[in-house]
Amino acid sequence: MTTATQSDPLDEFSRAEAAAEFIRSKTALRPEIALVLGSGLGDFADGMADAVRIPYGEIPHFPRSTAIGHAGRLVVGRIAATPMAVMQGRVHLYEGHSIKDVAFPMRVFGRLGIRAVILTNAAGGLSSDLHPGSLVLIRDHLNLQGASPVSGPNDERFGLRFFDMTTAYDPEFRRIAQEEAKRLGLWLGSGVYAALPGPSYETPAEIQYLKKIGVDLVGMSTVPEVIVARHMGIRVLAISCVTNLAAGLSQQAINHLEVLEIGARVQKELVALLTAVIPRMAATLALERKA
Ligand code: HPA
Repeated sequence: MTTATQSDPLDEFSRAEAAAEFIRSKTALRPEIALVLGSGLGDFADGMADAVRIPYGEIPHFPRSTAIGHAGRLVVGRIAATPMAVMQGRVHLYEGHSIKDVAFPMRVFGRLGIRAVILTNAAGGLSSDLHPGSLVLIRDHLNLQGASPVSGPNDERFGLRFFDMTTAYDPEFRRIAQEEAKRLGLWLGSGVYAALPGPSYETPAEIQYLKKIGVDLVGMSTVPEVIVARHMGIRVLAISCVTNLAAGLSQQAINHLEVLEIGARVQKELVALLTAVIPRMAATLALERKA
């Protein structure tokens, strides 16, 4: 099944393959783990070894990010000796991209041979123990963006039409992250993330509703990428950086620059955690390959 249109003669699979081929031509590294750095968290990629930096605009068919705080380039290099493909910035539904385009980089990762992805984001916290600066593992999500990146004809080369989401947030990777956080003396929470369309932050009434339906974290990203990653069998670890209490839960209005500032402040902890977690994820994948 293909989904080519007259305006874009290539189907999604061929576009993903072309983008992956371009990335392969730029580096000899063949990463199996990808990392997406959210708002205010992008600096991590600056310290990578053997790095090749590719602006999204150069990668065939790749969507371009316009959000402030998102550099918009792919860095392929090593973190803790592990080859990694790192997105410094992502695109969002609110920028006017289709939800398929938002998740397209995951399609490219699938074609690149990526087997696990770490997604990070900035999020509002809905409970009082999630103060600004907290790192929280996402254990489940609610897709409240009103669309799915896998709607429309299914291309079996990517994955099955219907696929399971009960363990979308990989239990083994979550266990590893909790163990490493404990070892490093970092507080790491666990919560349910709701993705909303944005770009307006939520109203206090919306936050009260989200609290009632079991939401701990609210943001405008990640869920489309998780759905597409799972469609392709890519294992997922997702970490939110709480940058503010959600609307109406504090006296303060929510401000994007503060979101970026808190993200920047917590980066050091996130870097320490990821640097410890990544080699263990790589070891898990190596064992899985042998099995
Ligand atoms: N709501 C939605 N997205 C966000 C928030 C928020 O409060 N903070 C950071 N990203």
